[in-house]
Amino acid sequence: MLATKDLCFGYEEGEEVLTRINLDFSLGKVTGIVGANGSGKSTLFMNLLGLLKPTSGEVLWQHQGIHYDKAGLYQLRKNVAMVFQDPDQQIFYTDIKSDIAFSLRNLGVSETLIEERLNTVLTLVDAKSFCHKPIQYLSYGQKKRVAIAGALMLDAPCILLDEPTAGLDPKGREHIIQIINKIVAEGKHVVISSHDIDLIYQICDTVYVLDKGQIALSGQPEDVFLHTERIKEAQLTQPWLVKLHVQMGIPLYRTEEALFASAAFLKSESVEKS
Ligand SMILES: Nc1ncnc2c1ncn2[C@@H]1O[C@H](COP(=O)(O)OP(=O)(O)O)[C@@H](O)[C@H]1O
Ligand SMILES: [Mg+2]
Repeated sequence: MLATKDLCFGYEEGEEVLTRINLDFSLGKVTGIVGANGSGKSTLFMNLLGLLKPTSGEVLWQHQGIHYDKAGLYQLRKNVAMVFQDPDQQIFYTDIKSDIAFSLRNLGVSETLIEERLNTVLTLVDAKSFCHKPIQYLSYGQKKRVAIAGALMLDAPCILLDEPTAGLDPKGREHIIQIINKIVAEGKHVVISSHDIDLIYQICDTVYVLDKGQIALSGQPEDVFLHTERIKEAQLTQPWLVKLHVQMGIPLYRTEEALFASAAFLKSESVEKS
């Protein structure tokens, strides 16, 4: 699985944007990288994908440092796929199916196999109803799903999603959560960068908090987000379920469904007593 060892990176000499980053995505199925704007999330992802090269330290795949020659990067792309924050950065064709199929067609895969895989990924992102439309007629959320489909085409075991819910309305956000759950159910590792703290708390089993290019905290979300002061220092807020716990002494729930189920239980108990 993907990992980094003491990764440092700067766009300009002497100005470090990422400092000694150690990550191991084999620790969880869904890993969250949370950080305020400018904390280095996208820069980190571009290092993980080999688009940027660390100034020092390494990106590792199965414990081996990646190679930056054509063969090494080809190998990495078979294992790691990324969905950029802005779908327009990723979608090049007006025709949706051609865009999604690009990576496989580029590899010379047969049209029968391409059609099969297209069918699978279009179903997964729920895009079959609009995949015949030209790309410019799609909503932002639909474009986002097309970009995810494109990244899934090569069936890489590790998928990086940079700010997957940014700019989406609640319905679009919920849709992306469902898609992430489906990708995880296929046995893939998913890494999500976001400052949507409630999203990270809800769906990640491992979290790294990035503050000015350094890992400030890491571990399971229910532990990491209890560090009230450090979270604030990183210019983030705690997930609302954690706030309820810290400020009102309510037990720590991982999902709002769990909280509401227990609230319903308490209500039924008090009705019985009265
Ligand atoms: N192409 C670039 N050239 C120089 N500095 C950059 C470039 N891209 C990002 N930065 C700087 O690197 C830092 C981290 O940015 P970024 O990785 O985009 O953070 P995030 O994704 O967490 O918002 C910021 O200070 C940003 O201004
Ligand atoms: Mg970013």
